[in-house]
Amino acid sequence: MCGIIGYIGHREAYGILIKGLKRLEYRGYDSAGIALSNNDYRVYKCKGKVSDLEEQTKDKDIKGRIGIGHTRWATHGEPTDNNAHPHKSMNGKFVIIHNGIIENYNKLKNSLENEGYQFESETDTEVLANLIEFYYLNNRKNGKSFSPEDAVRAALNMVVGAYGLVILCEDYPDQMIAARKGSPLVIGIGKSEYFIASDATPIVEFTDSVIYLNDDDIAVLDDNGLSLRNLKNIAQTPDIHKIKLEVSEIEKNGFDHYMLKEIYEQPRAIRDTYRGRLNFNSKFLRLGGLHNVFQQLTEANRIIIIACGTSWHSGIVGEYLFEEFTRISTEVEYASEFRYRNPVINKGDIVIAISQSGETADTLAAIQLAKKAGAIVIGICNVVGSSIARETVAGVFTHAGPEIGVASTKAFTTQITVLTMMAMSIGLANKKLAKDEFTVLIDELYAIPEKIEKILTKSEKIKKIAIEISNATNSLYLGRGYLFPVALEGALKLKEISYIHAEGYPAAEMKHGPIALIDEKMPVIVLATEDKSYEKIVSNIQEVKARKGVIIAIVTEGDTTIKQMADYVIEVPKTDFALAPLLTVIPLQLLSYYIAVERGCNVDQPRNLAKSVTVE
Ligand code: M6R
Repeated sequence: MCGIIGYIGHREAYGILIKGLKRLEYRGYDSAGIALSNNDYRVYKCKGKVSDLEEQTKDKDIKGRIGIGHTRWATHGEPTDNNAHPHKSMNGKFVIIHNGIIENYNKLKNSLENEGYQFESETDTEVLANLIEFYYLNNRKNGKSFSPEDAVRAALNMVVGAYGLVILCEDYPDQMIAARKGSPLVIGIGKSEYFIASDATPIVEFTDSVIYLNDDDIAVLDDNGLSLRNLKNIAQTPDIHKIKLEVSEIEKNGFDHYMLKEIYEQPRAIRDTYRGRLNFNSKFLRLGGLHNVFQQLTEANRIIIIACGTSWHSGIVGEYLFEEFTRISTEVEYASEFRYRNPVINKGDIVIAISQSGETADTLAAIQLAKKAGAIVIGICNVVGSSIARETVAGVFTHAGPEIGVASTKAFTTQITVLTMMAMSIGLANKKLAKDEFTVLIDELYAIPEKIEKILTKSEKIKKIAIEISNATNSLYLGRGYLFPVALEGALKLKEISYIHAEGYPAAEMKHGPIALIDEKMPVIVLATEDKSYEKIVSNIQEVKARKGVIIAIVTEGDTTIKQMADYVIEVPKTDFALAPLLTVIPLQLLSYYIAVERGCNVDQPRNLAKSVTVE
């Protein structure tokens, strides 16, 4: 939700913090702030973007080899200068940045108010800063030894909620403390220097050695190095990982927006996702990450897919794939509903959690619930080392590379690539998918990236259509079968980046209500590639046309029937209908992108959104 960065070492921290915040801005962008330590500490913060903060600090004292920075997505309190992080404790002993939510903050705030504490902001974070200070000052009375780390531990033991925290203490200007529960934190280890961040993107240009903090970890960084203990004060052994992330992967590389870059990366991302897993010559498919649960997968009675947003849409594609190729009953659940509605989970049920970021709080909580009930929980994640990747017993990474644009694009297509490979391998093993069908699918999957490249060459045409319909206030997306989830995804893309109201519907449901909305101002985007329900979708198009709706149809190359009815037609190459989502979603992503650009919207950082939703 929020982006966190910290630096302690031999360099000036300011530049590292500002650059890091810019890299993390996709996680939240309503306010930003930094604190720098140079025997004292100075805090600068403001409502707005990191560039506003940069402007504000132009003529200020920015010296310091220790510093912390934060970019915020508001939870408690509006985006204002006061509510921006870092937050100082009342007596100025501590300054902290926080990602997450302190659920019992009201109760803690009341107790602190009874102790004479006053608050400047409406945030839960300021409560935490004061709570830490309260323990610190109280326990040090009469010369007792009580370190900032002790105070952090005492306070965190009182907290209910989620946090990724970085803390500075005025009395220990050469020390930095970090703590985690629920919200991710990565520590980068350099030569006599450390970096702390919500994810590895601001760290990669300095070091590839990282530690992912676990829940309940408290890390202390100072001249003595790194010490890691947990909330019970038990020493923990740091597990150092090597990250494989190039700086170029997190830059725009000449594209106007990350979203456009990521749309164009899809052929590469899909190839990387199947590379080493599928052998197209020998028609061999093996997902190494599922090895330890593969037998259970082939014998499963039921699969439950849990996810949110775009990942939930790819989950629906997964449901269709699993039921068709494996004949295993599959349900798809919003993680947020699943976790709160007392779902029936039987021992041995397979739960597949899908998440690009691997940090979505609802998905994480749903996983924990499923594990408790005895389910076998498998992850499909993009971010290596993420909480969901670590919380699941087996899984498959999507290899999409960092997705920075808030609107998910390559995550969707790579998740579907993984789900397709999973369904194919299980189906072949449990003999519900015939070998010849399996072989055809392998060949089709192999050809997908090239076909996407072909669709991408039509971007100018799609841009023209986008400009024509960019003044619409409402729109409808229709699809059947495998293309119904694509309709949902197309509608989500449009609303989140262009703020045009959009609904995705199964095409046959249109006549049960949404048809009432159609008039000459209503663009209706119809996914109408050739498959077994082609004739039906042609009828749906006629129903829209009869009510003067503006039809934009996504059709198979060479289609002549729909061309005569639709106002605009975008062709995609032919493929197996189970793989059609991988192609048909591309024009919808481009359409949303160009509409948003035409409307002057901030494509990569749409209002009110953040890339990874680490709060409930
Ligand atoms: O990281 P996750 O895949 O778990 O994220 C789930 C949703 O928050 C995400 O897909 C969101 O809906 C995107 N903004 C969609 O473009």
